[in-house]
Amino acid sequence: MTYDFDRAIDRASSDSRKWHKYAGRDILPLWVADMDFAAPPAVIAAIEKRVAHGVFGYSRPMPSLTEAVVAYCATRYDWRIDPAWIVWIPGLVTGLNLAARALGERGDAILTATPVYPPFMSAPKNQERETITVDLVPRADGRYEFDWAAMERAVTPRTKALFLCSPHNPVSRVFTRAELEQIAAFCLRHHLVLVSDEIHCDLILDPLPHIPVASLSPEIAARTITLLAPSKTYNIAGLGCSLAIIADTKLRTQFSRAGLGLVPEMSPLAYAACEGALRDSEAWRQQLLSYLRGNRDLIASFLRENVPAIKMTPCEATYLAWLDVSALGLKDPGHFFEEHGLGLADGAQYGSPAGKFVRLNFGCTRATLTEALRRLQRAVAARAGA
Ligand SMILES: Cc1ncc(COP(=O)(O)O)c(C=O)c1O
Repeated sequence: MTYDFDRAIDRASSDSRKWHKYAGRDILPLWVADMDFAAPPAVIAAIEKRVAHGVFGYSRPMPSLTEAVVAYCATRYDWRIDPAWIVWIPGLVTGLNLAARALGERGDAILTATPVYPPFMSAPKNQERETITVDLVPRADGRYEFDWAAMERAVTPRTKALFLCSPHNPVSRVFTRAELEQIAAFCLRHHLVLVSDEIHCDLILDPLPHIPVASLSPEIAARTITLLAPSKTYNIAGLGCSLAIIADTKLRTQFSRAGLGLVPEMSPLAYAACEGALRDSEAWRQQLLSYLRGNRDLIASFLRENVPAIKMTPCEATYLAWLDVSALGLKDPGHFFEEHGLGLADGAQYGSPAGKFVRLNFGCTRATLTEALRRLQRAVAARAGA
């Protein structure tokens, strides 16, 4: 079966947060990380089947869903997990906050590498921990990597955890086994818990393997909280369906306790959608990946040919392009591009210096992306002529 990712779906008149932000203004929303595509038919069918049942009381995951998660980890990532390790949570931002709350005490610190998805920096602060950030550094080919000397300098006796985004939002890296081993060794050496947000792991565009960091060794598994969700890949973020996988019983109990009385149970529709995604949506995912590759390649070639002042970071994974706009000399790139009809995420939110980067969400139809690129070109031309 062929899925139609070119089909334009009107989201402006829906409840979409992404589209609502610019309601009534001619600004294409390419900011928050959800895609403009319908969820896979198997996901929609699973939700419809659950709706037809008609009763929506408090819910638990069905054994078939737990089996689907275990099978997914084993077949896709050669990662053997025990069903008892799974903690269901209604969101991964919740997961980051629970981890921060569960680890150490008030005044302790959590380390993360920037730029990064903003809740990596805010979750520790929300939970009265300090956030320590270390910049990722671009290599000559534009790919970002960890600066190990700076990481060693930054870690303190009060640092309790490292928050890792793998694959990485926004710099779109898929870390290699050697890099992940270095990260694991660093955490073991400094007795840190590794909180590994792997929400983008099924959105790898280059022929690179995703390696769950907890699958590297029993030692690192014993200090890792892996955060996963079908929400990005299958475009069901609004349904609130995520999971933490935690092998160590004590760590798992600490994590679960941190949410007692605060974190609601997941909805039955979220469980149903998750099962439809993991079990029956692989053909859809493969076609999505090839469509996203087409979009990514279009941005890269368009910028090379028409807007060489903007440099695109090599995008190995995700549907998020990290664009270096520093040559334009803008104070507030987010605002500048809005003025030219483009709603991008400003890099400063991710911990980058102001004026240097924007993030463009290319999880949209080719027609929308083509129009967005035209607007980008016009905006840069206007800047040059100003
Ligand atoms: C790395 C990362 N973690 C978590 C989330 C959000 O997760 P949730 O919507 O489940 O809170 C996002 C959304 O873009 C993300 O990029």
